[in-house]
Amino acid sequence: MYTKLRSIQSGTFSTVYKAWSTTHNRYVALKITPKYKTSEANMKNEYDVMKILNSCNPHPNICSMLDFYTDDSYYIMVLEYCECGDLYDFLDIAKSQGSPSSPSLIQIDMQKIIKQLCSAISFAHSLGIAHRDIKPENILLTINGDIKLADWGHAIQSPKSNDFQIGTDNYRAPETFSGRVSNSCFKKNFDRSSAPLYNTYQADYWSLGTTIFYLMFGDCLFRVSKSKKVQHLKNFDEFEKDPFAFIYRKYVVPRLSCGYNDEEDLHVSLQHTRQYIWQDLPDIYDVFHLCKIMVDTLLKVSNAKERSMENFINEVDSAWNKDSSMDSCFSYQNKIDLFWEQWSVNTETVPAKFQLKNFEKPCLIQDGK
Ligand SMILES: Nc1ncnc2c1ncn2[C@@H]1O[C@H](COP(=O)(O)OP(=O)(O)OP(=O)(O)O)[C@@H](O)[C@H]1O
Ligand SMILES: [Mg+2]
Repeated sequence: MYTKLRSIQSGTFSTVYKAWSTTHNRYVALKITPKYKTSEANMKNEYDVMKILNSCNPHPNICSMLDFYTDDSYYIMVLEYCECGDLYDFLDIAKSQGSPSSPSLIQIDMQKIIKQLCSAISFAHSLGIAHRDIKPENILLTINGDIKLADWGHAIQSPKSNDFQIGTDNYRAPETFSGRVSNSCFKKNFDRSSAPLYNTYQADYWSLGTTIFYLMFGDCLFRVSKSKKVQHLKNFDEFEKDPFAFIYRKYVVPRLSCGYNDEEDLHVSLQHTRQYIWQDLPDIYDVFHLCKIMVDTLLKVSNAKERSMENFINEVDSAWNKDSSMDSCFSYQNKIDLFWEQWSVNTETVPAKFQLKNFEKPCLIQDGK
């Protein structure tokens, strides 16, 4: 028996409600999908995937299905309820709160999120399941600040696929567009049967990278613009040519707290910036470092085979594990050196003096713990 309390959100296919379950004696989320909005095969796929994920030892970072009902008009999935909603909305609140003099009071523990997300994805992959729609909206937060990967509606039980147009464009791996017209343009309609299969796990790694990127900068790495015949990945060519210079120019520079004239000014500027961008990494040099790790391990454009979540998490672990023997690698001076090594290439186009533009929307998050 369920008592519907309020609607949480309407997605493309379903409406999700908070409800009280007398059967489970707890709050639950009811994901109600009208039958006309989806096919039986799609619903069965989501149900089967959730069943497999819930079988034996359910993973703590995957949103569990507690029950499932259907009648003539609706499918109803009973899910464990995540009190703090999804990461996209959560970040939106964080972003709207801060200012240069008073950073946001909401804090996102990015280190924890990254670890838990990788753990959930690798658990699903170990069961032969790829999510195919990893994005902030599908990552739920509990009251304890833990995450639960949700919305397995696009998941597939196969390491290969030639389903294109699956998932969310801004987070999708380049190879999942297929039908290439030019590097950054993809035909919307093309003959699927002749298109090469893509690896669904490697596509998830890319979405993981673009999702973390969004959490770092409060913006998508690319935006996909659509015309009737083609989809265009805006800025994609520029990224492919030189990922570091691209991220630096498009995402880092506009967020620096003041202009700079020389190297020393820049260091001061970067230090001022740190509290708005990232809580868990002590300063902006670590933000750059994380960008570098993502570009090196997850955001490989043409050779998807080179993407590796294992390498990503190993490198993140050693970067964050300040007590380990790696500590000396991340001394302040080392970070500065690393910064110049990585970012001073190809940045001639950056104006000598630039103004802060985005501080009314600071990224992540507040002052000292
Ligand atoms: N278990 C839950 N606890 C709390 N909120 C939830 C839960 N499940 C879903 N939501 C909220 O409802 C939204 C939509 O859920 P979900 O993504 O599963 O539906 P959908 O119809 O498949 O959406 P879309 O197709 O737009 O991705 C989520 O982004 C989240 O904000
Ligand atoms: Mg969703």
